[in-house]
Amino acid sequence: MSLWTQARRSARLNPSIIREILKVTEQPGILSMAGGLPSADTFPVEAIRAACDTVLSQAPRQALQYAASEGFAPLREWVAAQLARQGQVVSPDQVLVTTGSQQGLDLVGKVMVDAGAPVAVETPTYLGALQAFNPYEPIYTSLASDGQGPRPEAIAALPHDAPGTRFAYLLPNFQNPSGRVLSDERRQALVAAAQAARVPIVEDNPYGDLWFDAPPPAPLAARWPEGVLYLGSFSKVLTPGFRLGYLVAPPALYPKLLQAKQAADLHTPGFNQRVVFEVIKNGFLDQHVPTIRARYQAQCAAMADALSRHLPEGTEWQRPQGGMFFWLRLPAGCDALALLPQAVAAGIAYVPGAAFYAHEADARTLRLSFVTLTPEDIANAVAILGRVLREHLAGSAEPTP
Ligand SMILES: Cc1ncc(COP(=O)(O)O)c(C=O)c1O
Repeated sequence: MSLWTQARRSARLNPSIIREILKVTEQPGILSMAGGLPSADTFPVEAIRAACDTVLSQAPRQALQYAASEGFAPLREWVAAQLARQGQVVSPDQVLVTTGSQQGLDLVGKVMVDAGAPVAVETPTYLGALQAFNPYEPIYTSLASDGQGPRPEAIAALPHDAPGTRFAYLLPNFQNPSGRVLSDERRQALVAAAQAARVPIVEDNPYGDLWFDAPPPAPLAARWPEGVLYLGSFSKVLTPGFRLGYLVAPPALYPKLLQAKQAADLHTPGFNQRVVFEVIKNGFLDQHVPTIRARYQAQCAAMADALSRHLPEGTEWQRPQGGMFFWLRLPAGCDALALLPQAVAAGIAYVPGAAFYAHEADARTLRLSFVTLTPEDIANAVAILGRVLREHLAGSAEPTP
């Protein structure tokens, strides 16, 4: 018998096969479209350096001391004021600063999910949310989707009776992995269905500010404040290195999330919160985020152009209107996971779509990030992907001897 008996939930903490494969893609020379990272060229290093100096000269001892679990009060006020700009009326008291929005997902799992409790997720959904919820042993319902996103009828069909669905986890803006944005109509219909079915919503929005031509419609939380728990993040508009995110919870839920947060890490680093507040307090993001948008939009255009030139007929994809990702469905006979070693051998990497499904995966799907390579490298990488797929399709079309 082992000396260290592990909890049953640890069986749900598995290394992702995909993550293992992707370690290979860290090798120099690989043109990787696999990462979910923002472009490091967008990080405002000088502004952050100056803010570190200011914090350390003006409030060094407070910044280096333990701090409040709720978060730095001026930052919580800033978040509430910022959300008001997208139609969300919240009190700063509802804002809980988290160590990345990834921690928000974990806290939601901890507070909301019993073993065997139903949780509804999109098809596909964010892999990191599945990883965060899995240890709490939910039973997932995969919401059926159409070209517009999850279908309102799928929410209406969720189990109402005890044990009811604890929440539906939804990503309205430039979803990771599919890149799609929900229309105003679809948001309204999803919220109406959730209200009728009495299924609360967890709305995850790290990409909403990364729009290209027009901002996305108002968040779900603005439409049903008492029924939506909202997650936001500074990772994609500033830098992920500070691990700074926040959740906005209906007042009835806030105290338990706060206690879960205390148990997890007491508080998010106060120094990081003060530095970020120092950077953003006078409207910095209003100048900075448009530069990220312009950059990503050019990279997105380069990828759209390369995909239409190089990918074999039968490949399905849609041009995203913001965010960081293209989602591809390869022609019949292509399995994205099985083809990854060939792609890596040819010098490129992508993430096979299989990781993003709670249930049966569509093996023909894959995710490409357009933000970490230059437009020239994007063109080269997509040309290589096209070649790998064509060779595979030509090979599989040959009669077997
Ligand atoms: C949909 C989604 N939610 C949450 C996160 C976690 O972000 P953070 O860096 O704020 O923890 C990510 C990160 O890529 C994401 O794509």
